[in-house]
Amino acid sequence: MKKEPQSARLALHERSAELKQTLAPIRRGDVATLLAKAPRSERMFPLGDAELPYRVLVETINEGAATLDGQGKVLYANSRFAEFVGLPVEKFIGARLQTYVPAREQSKLQALLESGARGSANGHIELQLSRTRKKLIRLSLSPVKDAALQTICAIATDLTELADANEALKANEQALRHLSSRLLELQDEERRRIARDLHDVTGQKLALQCIALSRMMRLLSPTASEETKDSIAQCLELTNQIGEEIRTLSYLLHPPLLDELGLPSAVKWYTQGFQKRTGIPVDVDIAADLPRLRPEVEVALFRVVQESLANVHRYSGSATAYVRIPRDSDELKVEIGDFGNGMPLEKTKALNGDVAPLGVGIQGMRQRIRQFSGRLEIFSQLGKGTVVRATLPIQELRLQRESNEKNAARKDEELARPHGRSKAVATVTS
Ligand SMILES: Nc1ncnc2c1ncn2[C@@H]1O[C@H](COP(=O)(O)OP(=O)(O)OP(=O)(O)O)[C@@H](O)[C@H]1O
Ligand SMILES: [Mg+2]
Repeated sequence: MKKEPQSARLALHERSAELKQTLAPIRRGDVATLLAKAPRSERMFPLGDAELPYRVLVETINEGAATLDGQGKVLYANSRFAEFVGLPVEKFIGARLQTYVPAREQSKLQALLESGARGSANGHIELQLSRTRKKLIRLSLSPVKDAALQTICAIATDLTELADANEALKANEQALRHLSSRLLELQDEERRRIARDLHDVTGQKLALQCIALSRMMRLLSPTASEETKDSIAQCLELTNQIGEEIRTLSYLLHPPLLDELGLPSAVKWYTQGFQKRTGIPVDVDIAADLPRLRPEVEVALFRVVQESLANVHRYSGSATAYVRIPRDSDELKVEIGDFGNGMPLEKTKALNGDVAPLGVGIQGMRQRIRQFSGRLEIFSQLGKGTVVRATLPIQELRLQRESNEKNAARKDEELARPHGRSKAVATVTS
């Protein structure tokens, strides 16, 4: 290539500096009229007062503003837009917007430019400023009418901070969900442990005390006073009652039937006890071919039944309730319903949202079900009643062979114990 003479290059440099100097006051809005000289005529271009406020506005707004040609070349840009790509405005003008957009976003930008040339179009585009620096902008495009060339007006809003905050919020939410799942898991473990201790330790000591009191009664001398006999009989009666209560409490904390026979038996047992305690009969209808599910899933579903029936008793005023567990090949549904007061629409909506302003019962159930990729829904109508429905994908939640073996081992261990909980199951009333 032929080398330009030194003097020509210097002249070009001076000319470009002169042009920049001329442009600066126009940009700032300091020039009212432009006079363009042609060989035989002169033409005035007023940049008058009417346009000045608009130019000042475009230069000072916090949004990026630019005009582009149909190929994405920047014809004009305000300094804020140039800031987005980290360039001085003079360098940005003349560049193609595509230069700052990563490969995976190119087709999106192209589609936006094409729609922006026809009518108004909006979209989010990522700008890649360096290997590590990115920006997310919202581009609003519209065609400039009456322009001789195809020109697009572009407004860019920086969403990077918003997107970062959103990401942080999502991460926090996930951490919180993880934490609450873990807390529920720990709560279940603790309930299981307390239930076992109550049954196996406290319950057994009370049983021994009953035996000792009965023995004392038998050994009493025939001359013992009636008062002494009555006192021992009262002690015996009281100890029996406490034993019964301890057993009930232990089974409510963690029903042994749940581990041994599964959800249907535990639900039937629980609803019978519920009816006795509250006077509300519960109709139970459970699919006969319900497979065994992973123990943690059965516990979660049992807690949903327990929690929902507690709500029926506390709030519904319903004379009856029902628990239905139908299934199809893919999904398992657990429905607890009543025919009582129901709830207003607003309250039902709030309860179906993520952040309910009310108690923790329903939110806890939702959290439990969500852990297993399921969903919890509340349907309610004032004066007609309420239905709580948990839906779970059944295939992934079936008891695997490995857990089957674990369960069998646990059962063996229980049976080997002298006073295993399983023995007492038949005699308990919930
Ligand atoms: N079956 C129902 N019938 C009528 N209202 C209900 C029923 N179940 C729930 N509610 C309403 O929904 C609210 C939220 O229930 P949730 O179980 O989440 O909390 P809670 O029972 O108030 O408190 P917690 O369960 O934490 O002790 C209740 O306060 C009640 O007003
Ligand atoms: Mg509740």
